[in-house]
Amino acid sequence: MRTPFAPAYPATRMRRVRSQPWLRGLVQENTLSANDLIWPVFVTDGENSAAPVVSMPGVERLSIDKLVDKAKQAVKLGIPAMALFPYTDPALKTPDAKEAWNPENLVCRAVRAVKSAVPEIGIICDVALDPYNSDGHDGLVKNGQILNDETVECLCKQALVQVEAGCDIIAPSDMMDGRVAAIRSALDENGFQHASILSYAAKYASGFYGPFRDAVGSGGALKGDKKTYQMNPANATEAIREVALDLQEGADMIMIKPGMPYLDILKSVREHFQVPTFAYQVSGEYAMLRAAADHGWLDYDQVVMESLMAFKRAGADGILTYSALHAARLLNHQD
Ligand code: PBG
Repeated sequence: MRTPFAPAYPATRMRRVRSQPWLRGLVQENTLSANDLIWPVFVTDGENSAAPVVSMPGVERLSIDKLVDKAKQAVKLGIPAMALFPYTDPALKTPDAKEAWNPENLVCRAVRAVKSAVPEIGIICDVALDPYNSDGHDGLVKNGQILNDETVECLCKQALVQVEAGCDIIAPSDMMDGRVAAIRSALDENGFQHASILSYAAKYASGFYGPFRDAVGSGGALKGDKKTYQMNPANATEAIREVALDLQEGADMIMIKPGMPYLDILKSVREHFQVPTFAYQVSGEYAMLRAAADHGWLDYDQVVMESLMAFKRAGADGILTYSALHAARLLNHQD
């Protein structure tokens, strides 16, 4: 983009259009609304239970009944979709991760409950084995190696039970090669042509996922790291290849993750591909903002809105954020 002609100071005074709130509003380039937000939520067994996640102050693991109440609130606030993450009973975690395709597993029960009580909210489910794998990895592990093709078969079974339960959007977050194509055909062959795929296309091996792993209880279980399948934070052009492959394989929407430290990736992906692109403001980003605010070092409302707007400015069509409810409340009060 060329810089448009502008006469020098004093003919040009950039502060002129900043002088009044209405004028700032008039020249504002990007906007944020509740409609841009996807709310990731942790689900747990039990009833009437909301257990705090220590490393994410203000975030709770919700039992299904509480989840349904919160889904109603989310709809009232104009939030279009929720992403559900199960806290799996450690006794159900096995090396073959078979709880992942149990049609009665926690996440499937949660999807059914929300869809029957609040059908107007979109439901997104992660596809990856880490909540169910005793090794904490997103794939099957054999002799210390993360198996690719064997894992993909498991992911297809996992995706199927989730859409059968009523999940609208399947979100593979595992970073195995070829999983989008395999899941797309498994869905189509079973009559789920309308279930969409939001692929975590460019997902980096990041330290910012730490609090999430506490929240779903996979952190303690994790042996080693995820660097043989998640991307190297030093790489940018590789993200373009990852996204291109997932789109060729049939992804309807793509995601970049983490969010704030990867706005450059978001912007270049959005410029390369004209497809719905989402950013995930991950658990560690939430924890940083929240912890600083809890110490009185940052104004939480201000930094949350500023960080969410940064995603829009970089080109995101939507943002997954643990602050979704809070941000939507703030946005609705502005009207
Ligand atoms: C699981 C998954 C992770 C996140 C979303 N899905 C963790 C990981 O890959 O280790 C992270 C989300 C967050 O940190 O908020 N595959």
